[in-house]
Amino acid sequence: MNAPFKALVINQDENRKVTSGLASMTMDQLDAGEVLIRVHYSSINYKDALAATGVGKIIRRFPCAGGIDMSGEVVESSDSRFRAGDKVIATSFDIGVAHHGGYAEYARVPAAWVVALPDGLDLFEAMALGTAGFTAALGIVRMEDNGLTPAGGPVVVTGATGGVGGLAIDMLSRLGYHTVALTGKASEGDYLKMLGASDIRLRSSIDFDKVRPLEAGEWAGAVDNVGGQILHWVLATMKQAGVVASIGNAASFNINTTVFPFILRGVSLLGIDSGYMGFPTRQRVWDRLATDLKPRHLAAVTRTITFDELPGAFDAFIQGTVKGRTVVRVAD
Ligand SMILES: NC(=O)c1ccc[n+]([C@@H]2O[C@H](COP(=O)([O-])OP(=O)(O)OC[C@H]3O[C@@H](n4cnc5c(N)ncnc54)[C@H](OP(=O)(O)O)[C@@H]3O)[C@@H](O)[C@H]2O)c1
Repeated sequence: MNAPFKALVINQDENRKVTSGLASMTMDQLDAGEVLIRVHYSSINYKDALAATGVGKIIRRFPCAGGIDMSGEVVESSDSRFRAGDKVIATSFDIGVAHHGGYAEYARVPAAWVVALPDGLDLFEAMALGTAGFTAALGIVRMEDNGLTPAGGPVVVTGATGGVGGLAIDMLSRLGYHTVALTGKASEGDYLKMLGASDIRLRSSIDFDKVRPLEAGEWAGAVDNVGGQILHWVLATMKQAGVVASIGNAASFNINTTVFPFILRGVSLLGIDSGYMGFPTRQRVWDRLATDLKPRHLAAVTRTITFDELPGAFDAFIQGTVKGRTVVRVAD
């Protein structure tokens, strides 16, 4: 049981430069936890690319097998909720940042981080969704909990061709929302329409330097994956009582905005943190991902790469040129 297995390990050299590459690990190097998982699939999120390239200071413990997402089969469990052979998903918490993650053929994690694979999803689909799908769904659930309905008006999704953006468009359109995609990629209109976007708005069509504190109110809801000036524009263009799910910082972690959308239009800015969202919400969101929020075009937004292709796959995420979701086939 201590035979070596493959992992993508992220390390730091003596000059504090982050390096990553394929390496061998053994079971006794795995972290503590009640559940040992044979990993079948992982995925690449923007955060994984920041971690593996060192562009973001994401890793809190070196060395660390990367991969914030995994799906697979339980090998052994000392927690009564899981048994050998169970199909499970584990995402977020310290996985892949301070605890060896899903870019490894085996992972040992605390039972509190593990969710039973819901009926309606297989292990591949769970990773086609991964943290991106979970976060998009959590954003939609939080907006609905704060009054968003399809009758309220359109919902704008920024960073539309990214993993979170594309899945959010698919889920929202499935629920009957008029969904508008904001993208920097003029060539991806057909892709975004295929996912269910009713309209496409190009970033180049908006002068973000000239956005006033309040513009004409257009959106009842917004899923923002990029932050910065674009989030300021989103806030300024919300309708009365609109709800904004702030998910990401692909453009910037700063926001320079005003309080007017909040105090003159009653807009709510909802913070979405998929990382430390525990039970029962975590299971509730996964159950919805397997039922009414299950994207209709999951296969079309997903490409699969092998473990050997993983080290070369991160740069495109940093450059913002990636489209859709990337699943990593970990098990042979
Ligand atoms: N809060 C949470 O719990 C949580 C969970 C998961 C992800 N996130 C964050 O959510 C964001 C999206 O994640 P993801 O996995 O979907 O990333 P992704 O697949 O890399 O997509 C990001 C998208 O943002 C747009 N973009 C990239 N660079 C940009 C720039 N400089 N200015 C404006 N737009 C830019 C691009 O879409 P277009 O060209 O179509 O505009 C890109 O495809 C990331 O910031 C990630 O860290 C947060």
